[in-house]
Amino acid sequence: MKLTVIGTGYLGATHAAAMAELGHDVLGIDTDDLKVKRLNAGEVPFFEPGLPELLRRNLDTGRLRFTTSYDEIGAFGEVHFICVGTPQKKGEYAADLAYVNASVESLLPVLRPGSVVVGKSTVPAGTAARLAESIEAAEGELVWNPEFLREGFAVDDTLRPDRIVMGGHSERAIAKLHQVYEPILSGGTTPCVVTDFATAELVKVAANSFLATKISFINAMAEVCETTGADVIQLAEALSHDTRIGGRFLHAGLGFGGGCLPKDIRAFMARAGELGVDQALSFLKEIDAINLRRRGRMVELAREVCDGSLAGVRVAVLGAAFKPNSDDIRDSPALDVALAVQRSGAAVRVYDPQAMDNARKDFPTLAYVPTALKAAEDADVVLHLTEWQEFREMHPSVLGEVVRERRILDGRNALDRELWRGEGWVYRALGRH
Ligand SMILES: NC(=O)c1ccc[n+]([C@@H]2O[C@H](COP(=O)([O-])OP(=O)(O)OC[C@H]3O[C@@H](n4cnc5c(N)ncnc54)[C@H](O)[C@@H]3O)[C@@H](O)[C@H]2O)c1
Repeated sequence: MKLTVIGTGYLGATHAAAMAELGHDVLGIDTDDLKVKRLNAGEVPFFEPGLPELLRRNLDTGRLRFTTSYDEIGAFGEVHFICVGTPQKKGEYAADLAYVNASVESLLPVLRPGSVVVGKSTVPAGTAARLAESIEAAEGELVWNPEFLREGFAVDDTLRPDRIVMGGHSERAIAKLHQVYEPILSGGTTPCVVTDFATAELVKVAANSFLATKISFINAMAEVCETTGADVIQLAEALSHDTRIGGRFLHAGLGFGGGCLPKDIRAFMARAGELGVDQALSFLKEIDAINLRRRGRMVELAREVCDGSLAGVRVAVLGAAFKPNSDDIRDSPALDVALAVQRSGAAVRVYDPQAMDNARKDFPTLAYVPTALKAAEDADVVLHLTEWQEFREMHPSVLGEVVRERRILDGRNALDRELWRGEGWVYRALGRH
């Protein structure tokens, strides 16, 4: 089939390449000229394992290319995927739908009658019903098909999703989307939930709210562990043996960040307020607050191990991305902590295996160095804030040779406490003694 993908960021670039991999002819469009040039040259403008290979392989087959022209995509596609961003509005909790609205406005004049528009961006409930009116007036049809991919696993999640959700009221449009995903659905192992617009929109924000709640739950337990002397890692392990609870997303640490969870739970609360059901989601405010408190606690812990003051202290920050295997720094807990520590008077040096360029662009006041060892040189304390494999594999004796003081704060509870203590380090972590 001939598909277009509108917006080629983390979601859209992955989706475009994956749809070509399934055998479709795909034309991606973005308003960012440089991004389009790089994608056409086989270069992924962000870090995502496996995507460069997938992109190049499909560019080579001729089934995939990118443009900045809406005229071209209108003439090309019978199914158009909307993958543009829906960030948090400045100064508000609500989602900013300006990009979604603009992409639909640009598409409508070139939309061929009978075409299907598929919304993948994360949007507040009610958005699809509103957009459907103008799309149907242009003789097109809309399906909402939320995306659940995880950065770092985006290729696999797109080609082998754990479920596909399709919301809409046109059987023909839903049948078309079934056809698009046929190579995935024909395996018989991927569940497909067909529903209405509002449910499809809600599945995504409900899923993210649940995940955020699980993370904040264990981080709230970590707060209690810190005052009772209990150990949150052992607590989580013991909880995880209850199959009703399970162990995933029950890892205490610095909490969640990124371009999805924080803004999605806030947009969900804002939308609930507009709909008059804000009480139903008031717990999410607490989930957000617990999450943000962990960042503050990390700074406090750094101050504590540095004898009460961070003024003049040299701090090595390991990690800038919001999570490992990504260069995404949107609402990154690591950078938040790095900035707060710097504001407290510390001299901070940051290293991340992939996110340095993005971090440098958005936070030019921090100092960036090319290796973990450079960051740790003469440091009074090392903060482990994003659990990259590289940091988990680091040996304390190697790092111990370059630091001034052997003090490490494990913000991700991912290092071997006994090993570090065995090498003479002061090891502290969130939720454990
Ligand atoms: N990143 C993820 O892991 C992920 C996972 C699931 C869902 N989502 C959702 O997917 C959506 C996109 O997220 P993302 O992380 O890919 O964002 P992103 O900012 O990386 O990408 C958005 C892209 O859209 C482009 N764009 C903006 N306006 C446009 C227009 N009018 N026409 C064409 N292109 C336009 C931008 O230039 C940018 O390249 C969001 O709603 C997000 O919540 C993201």
